[in-house]
Amino acid sequence: MCGIVGFVGNEDCVDMLIDGLSKLEYRGYDSAGIAVMDNKQIEVRKSKGRLADLTAKMEKEGRLKGTCGIGHTRWATHGEPSDINSHPHGNKRISIVHNGIIENYRDLKAFLIDQGYSFVSETDTEVVAKLLDYYYDGNPVDTIAKVIGEIRGSYALGILFRDFPDKIYAIRKDSPLIIGIAKNGNFIASDVPAILKYTKEYYLLEANEIATLTKDSVSVCDIHKNPIEKELNVADWDLDAAEKGGYEHFMLKEINEQPTAIKTTIAPRISEGMPYLEESGMTKEMLKGYNRIYIVACGTAMHAGLIGKYVIEKLAKVEVTVDIASEFRYRNPIITDKDLVILISQSGETADTLAALHLAKENGATTMSVVNVKGSSIARGSDIVVYTHAGPEISVASTKAYAVQLSIMYLLAFELAYAKEAISEEECRRLTKELQEIPDKIQDILVLKERCQFIASRLVNAESLLYIGRGLDYALSMEGSLKLKEISYIHSESYAAGELKHGTISLITEDMPVIAIATQENLFEKTLSNIKEVKSRGAKVTVICREGTKDDKTFANHLVTLPNMDDLMMPMLALVPMQYIAYYTAVLKGCDVDKPRNLAKSVTVE
Ligand code: AGP
Repeated sequence: MCGIVGFVGNEDCVDMLIDGLSKLEYRGYDSAGIAVMDNKQIEVRKSKGRLADLTAKMEKEGRLKGTCGIGHTRWATHGEPSDINSHPHGNKRISIVHNGIIENYRDLKAFLIDQGYSFVSETDTEVVAKLLDYYYDGNPVDTIAKVIGEIRGSYALGILFRDFPDKIYAIRKDSPLIIGIAKNGNFIASDVPAILKYTKEYYLLEANEIATLTKDSVSVCDIHKNPIEKELNVADWDLDAAEKGGYEHFMLKEINEQPTAIKTTIAPRISEGMPYLEESGMTKEMLKGYNRIYIVACGTAMHAGLIGKYVIEKLAKVEVTVDIASEFRYRNPIITDKDLVILISQSGETADTLAALHLAKENGATTMSVVNVKGSSIARGSDIVVYTHAGPEISVASTKAYAVQLSIMYLLAFELAYAKEAISEEECRRLTKELQEIPDKIQDILVLKERCQFIASRLVNAESLLYIGRGLDYALSMEGSLKLKEISYIHSESYAAGELKHGTISLITEDMPVIAIATQENLFEKTLSNIKEVKSRGAKVTVICREGTKDDKTFANHLVTLPNMDDLMMPMLALVPMQYIAYYTAVLKGCDVDKPRNLAKSVTVE
């Protein structure tokens, strides 16, 4: 996510802006910039790259000075990482920094162009800046209120108006923003770490509250200018804890960010209740033409592809082959220009997946990537890019990136099936609505952590575990097994439940715990018989199934139940206990959860 810092006070703000932005680097960024009221003029310095590149640029172009300014670290969503797309955006009259996604920026941009405005960047943020300029009537709060009424999406905005050189204005919805109250002045910031060096006291801005900061005052009002009294919060975090938002590890923070990540990823891809991937360039006409799809990826991303395979083949009746990228390139796959090859990658830099992309292009296939990092190599090399908006994933173990990759797989399956007339509009709407309910359902089941913590305590001393399931549950079990292995270093294996009796069941003893995923209603009875097979041979079984599953007390030693949804959607819920069980097992083992041994966040070598 982007980072925002602002300061207005009794001393020069430039060093404090840079220092504050440096404390937000954990949020991930690809460019940075500041705007300062320098001699009553808005002066901007911004640069692609790291903060060091920004400070070097300031040394070269002339250091800014002033006691009122705003700063930004950009995690690109609209427009490649570049100097011109960096924030702040605006003009001599108004300058803004923004964290979030404006969903209707295209319509607003067209309107402003009709009003004679021109644009230099590809960002949605520049549209907001020019809209503020368009509505500016000499009163910043009125202006902000008018603009808020026009934009849709998520935003945290820090705003400078040249006519008010000793004030900072701020407003947020869905993206975080706090107001820091310090002795030497007042701050705005995306998160507590940015201000901890100067103060622990802060206000939390609520949705669409407008804050006006001067060096010795902070006033807050609603969009109708009614004043709002704010409660002062005092941070009791140290800096390290603050970067994790108070969570012990980034992994736990990112598990908890999944509802927002999914919501931010799917919202721009659903139009009037129907899936809408056309903004990525994938048209319905193109979708109709594909009769074979390859999904190629590594690790967790490949596991997301497996779910995609099940859902696409069930709904669209289009053949899908899922390949591990490092195998795909050496097995001489049959690829033609009629095929669609989908590359899934959080980092967009995984060497094996990038090589698979090149192979697909050499054979004339249409390439589509599902990537979380804007402007990454795989994104830049693909014909079609569907960006996920999970924000930076810091923990090596992928959680929220997996969740948003699944959400794109579902949207693609729904749109493809509808384009192929394999499902009705009514069915497409129903499924799309179920997908939209997922963030709230995941929010509800995040309370399962205590239950999963208890289950983890029963697994922590195991030498090896089995994860079993059928259909979508089997595909999900692969991700559950990988999560456990990579962060707790306990060996585990994912196994098709129906295949156990063909050999592997010989491993089962009371020392081999089994985690059975049994969410698929149409396969439950069969999975239940496999559960009883292993239980009767001494295995302690943890079952993840639906609420209201009959006799759920008899066949499980430990039970996790999930809200009922369409069979197809259950992996989006079952992923949470999978992640929690792995996380708490690793914590109980005292492992370095966020940086497991031998692993890198992005494997850019073969
Ligand atoms: C997942 O927890 C691992 N960190 C790893 O399997 C990862 O999913 C894989 O290396 C692919 O990375 P990518 O999504 O960045 O391409």
